[in-house]
Amino acid sequence: MLLLAFESSCDETSAAVIRGGWVLSSVVSSQTNLHAEYGGVVPELAVREHIRNLQPVASAALAAAGVSADAIDAVAATQGPGLPAALMVGLKAAQAFAFVRRKPFIGIHHHEAHLYSPWISGQPPRAAFDEFQPNVSLIVSGGHTMLVQVESELKHRVLGGTIDDAAGECFDKTGKLMGLAYPAGPIIDRLAEQGSAARYDFPRPLINEANDDFSFSGLKTSVRYFLRDNPALLDDPVAMRDLCASVQIAIVDVLVTKTIRAAKRLGVRCVTASGGVTCNRVLRRELLARCQKHGFQLRLADPSLCTDNAAMIGVLAERRLAQPEFANDYDGEIQAGWALA
Ligand code: KG4
Ligand code: ZN
Repeated sequence: MLLLAFESSCDETSAAVIRGGWVLSSVVSSQTNLHAEYGGVVPELAVREHIRNLQPVASAALAAAGVSADAIDAVAATQGPGLPAALMVGLKAAQAFAFVRRKPFIGIHHHEAHLYSPWISGQPPRAAFDEFQPNVSLIVSGGHTMLVQVESELKHRVLGGTIDDAAGECFDKTGKLMGLAYPAGPIIDRLAEQGSAARYDFPRPLINEANDDFSFSGLKTSVRYFLRDNPALLDDPVAMRDLCASVQIAIVDVLVTKTIRAAKRLGVRCVTASGGVTCNRVLRRELLARCQKHGFQLRLADPSLCTDNAAMIGVLAERRLAQPEFANDYDGEIQAGWALA
């Protein structure tokens, strides 16, 4: 079965062709540079770009997989959560594509798809569901930060999430205070490489709380006050690198400590992570070190699949289509505020 999947929930337009867990192609058109000028995603611009790019991206995905549109057996798209009008572009186009060809269509929960992206690996990429293990999954990006227990394939339970800013938002907003461009996460990652993380001590919000929730707005505020009191530091390249490293380790420490604690408490043997912030090299390194220490298997989404992509949508859609309760949904509406069950 050949499945064509679409993703358009935020600022990436993506299409992928999947067959039997193999990712035959995955094309992502990112709008990051477009939104950079405005310091964040501008919904109206995102929608315009999705409309412009969806068809070429889908054609490119079909061409890269070496298949024609007529060969597609099933279609999937992100149904939510996300920016309403952005979701609408991908969902309605995908439903129309499926309807005119009388092929099954399935709408997918964006966060649920993130849970399975760490299982996609290798070259060519394949979803290794045969290697699946119950796990605790960290989803961490510009829009979301959550911990989820994945008890078995397609069965999960949200443990906790951020009560204010997402971790990526914290990278981006503290970076903005430091005068860095948007998105600041990758810039902080790079500057921190040669900085001393021990130089400045920033708070690790909720790190010792007996829950699986996160809060990052206090950390951002403490960076704001710190820079108000030490403005000259922004002109000192060494201090800037140390500042980046110190902020980064505060965020990473909270994410890693709470993820490992949840995994230990729940008795799972596997930890996974996905979302744009999972590109962060110190996060990857620290998760690996702490997982090795506690004997957990670690599966990190490949950096190319950390940010939003249709491959993860398609991989989950294939599994869902195979379920007996699957119902065709040509006219299902977007669910912009869809909470992960
Ligand atoms: O998955 P993504 O595209 O999702 C959302 O837009 O929600 O993730 C983008 C986020 C941004 O906040 C960006 O700063 C952050 O991921 N990010 C990073 C790194 N690469 C991307 N944060 C820290 N270090 C990185 N290397
Ligand atoms: Zn996402």
